[in-house]
Amino acid sequence: MLKEEGMKMKYGVSYYPEHKDQAEIGHDIALMKELGVNLARMGEFAWCKFEPREGEYDFAWLDPVIEQLGENGIQTIVCTPTACPPAWLVEKHPEILYVDNRGVARPFGGRRHYCYNNPVYREYSRRIAEAVAAHYGDNPYVYAFQIDNELAQEGTGRCRCPVCREKFQRWLEAKYGTITELNRRMGTIFWGQVYDHFGQIHPPVNTIEPNTAQAIPAYFENPSLRLDFERFCSESNIEYQNIQRDAIKAYTDKPTTTNATGLATNSIDYYRAFQNLDVYAFDYYPNLREGMISSFPYAHARGVCNKDFWLLEFVSGGGHGLWGSGRLQPYPGALRQAAVHAFAAGADLVAHFQFRTFPFGAEQLNYAIVDIDGIPRRRFYEMQAAAKDLRQLGLTLKNSYFENEVAVLFDYDSLWALKIKPIAKDFDYAHFCGEFYHQLTRLGVGVDVISFDHDLDKYKVVIVPAPMIMSEAFKRRLKQYVYNGGVLLSTFLAGVKNLDNLGITESLPCGLTDLFGIRVGEVEPVVESTAAAVTLDTGTGCARGMNRYWAETLEPNGAELIGTYTGNFREGIGVISKNSYGKGTAYYLGTGLEPDLLKTLLKRVVEEGGVAGLPFAVPEGVEVLVRKYNHQNLYCIFNFCKEPAAVELERAYHDVLRGAAVDGLAELPPKGYLFLLEEGWD
Ligand code: GLA
Ligand code: ZN
Repeated sequence: MLKEEGMKMKYGVSYYPEHKDQAEIGHDIALMKELGVNLARMGEFAWCKFEPREGEYDFAWLDPVIEQLGENGIQTIVCTPTACPPAWLVEKHPEILYVDNRGVARPFGGRRHYCYNNPVYREYSRRIAEAVAAHYGDNPYVYAFQIDNELAQEGTGRCRCPVCREKFQRWLEAKYGTITELNRRMGTIFWGQVYDHFGQIHPPVNTIEPNTAQAIPAYFENPSLRLDFERFCSESNIEYQNIQRDAIKAYTDKPTTTNATGLATNSIDYYRAFQNLDVYAFDYYPNLREGMISSFPYAHARGVCNKDFWLLEFVSGGGHGLWGSGRLQPYPGALRQAAVHAFAAGADLVAHFQFRTFPFGAEQLNYAIVDIDGIPRRRFYEMQAAAKDLRQLGLTLKNSYFENEVAVLFDYDSLWALKIKPIAKDFDYAHFCGEFYHQLTRLGVGVDVISFDHDLDKYKVVIVPAPMIMSEAFKRRLKQYVYNGGVLLSTFLAGVKNLDNLGITESLPCGLTDLFGIRVGEVEPVVESTAAAVTLDTGTGCARGMNRYWAETLEPNGAELIGTYTGNFREGIGVISKNSYGKGTAYYLGTGLEPDLLKTLLKRVVEEGGVAGLPFAVPEGVEVLVRKYNHQNLYCIFNFCKEPAAVELERAYHDVLRGAAVDGLAELPPKGYLFLLEEGWD
């Protein structure tokens, strides 16, 4: 059933009224109204205002702002302020402070200085979340609730305080039962690390989270214990988040979520984290000065909850910055385009960070939509233009959805295992998954990004980049998928380890040699001086390119070799294979490939799967997102180039933004976009 007018997408800004007096707030709200937005996100750092003294709640500073915004058609997302425990709380309970991998407690004076496992802090957090929800739960101007802010951000997701240490020991005990079992499954006999009892176990110091230093500049700790610590911390953060979720939901049915940080940067397993939240939400700060905006994080976002997602913080521009340097301003047109692109890629709500430049604090003078003097300039007008286009596109986007035939699989255990024991200096698991996404996009093929647990049957082609850790059940599902007629492409490292992060004493790819019809022989990293040429049989000819990251040699055992090393001592040895298995086909790629060759290989793979491409050709630098509207295709076309681009259409389309037919050559200005609907529009 088609959705109706009134179900508008939400577009707006983060806003900090706690910094301002009434006159400034009045000025800002008038500007927001002029912007044409319908959303403000507030409160995430304002615990000291919500509860200035223990147990004394105060909402009088925020109520009139919510009201005034609401009267101007702007709804609010109210955040719980737990990212910033106030001074009185830290003074009374210094034991709640976060302890980093060097054993140093993070003192009051920044943000996120708390331990998510600490029972005292959990209770204070529950209470403030409850107070906020009780006060705003049925306020018609409140649209939704955000829990905390960027859990685990800035190196705060791997606490090592005494509470965490003891809880980790209990977690291990519950998992392994006996210390003998833990010793066996973790291989602690290596370097004589056998434990006598759980009380001897320390959380590993070598963290894999961003923004933290290696405490010992090497990889000396047990990899199984390290992976369990990642899982334990991820679970603990999720537990902490869900305490607040339950406190809020006791008072309201309004959507409740939290803001994740991009793909996986803080090493919380977002597939699990969002199971109990209403919508996947994340923060994204793409470069708007150069290049294309990657839609890979959007595809990942759609896959977390199998639906639309929210962008609770989205880039607003340049100027000064928080991360040790300033940020470049957007290229003209890029901010407007970025907002519309996010909605086309599946966002249902976007809030730019943030409305107006701060004079004080750690983020003083930083980027915002409006400069410090409160005078609207080009970023403001671009946002205004985006808001106008979004009003026009709203129903078309609301009533359309993605129906992609190809999936790239993304997994947290493999991500963590590859950070714990990296295979090559320049290899990054998430980035590598993105390479497949991007080359498929260049072929005009729409891609979903999904977890290993997701149903595979609806996809014609499934791609599993570097799946270093695979459960036996997942291996069986992959075999079943191919047996039933699916086309699978896996890469190097498939099934190398089990769920305990232990190597398996079998031929690689472990448990999958029958599926791929190969065995892996030698393996090694690829460094600049050892990069080798790979020759690929494209089906109709030959293509050649250089390899990267990691190299495996393939010993065929039933499979056809369609790619070989060329021109070095491995001349003629297999590196890409193709195997028939049941009704389907399984490809194995034993190395990383430079972009053009990867694209050529993927063309062969998607053709094998009978995947539909675009009906028209698009130049480099232009991305097409294909959505379904009433069983018709809706082509959302974005020109990321600084020059105009043209697309030669093969038939007439309806141009949704202009409300007119378009035929022949469709032109896109620099940073322009076009929404073309096949037919069925009246
Ligand atoms: C993060 C935070 C915001 C702000 C921005 C600045 O995403 O959530 O509060 O600090 O970074 O880029
Ligand atoms: Zn702790």
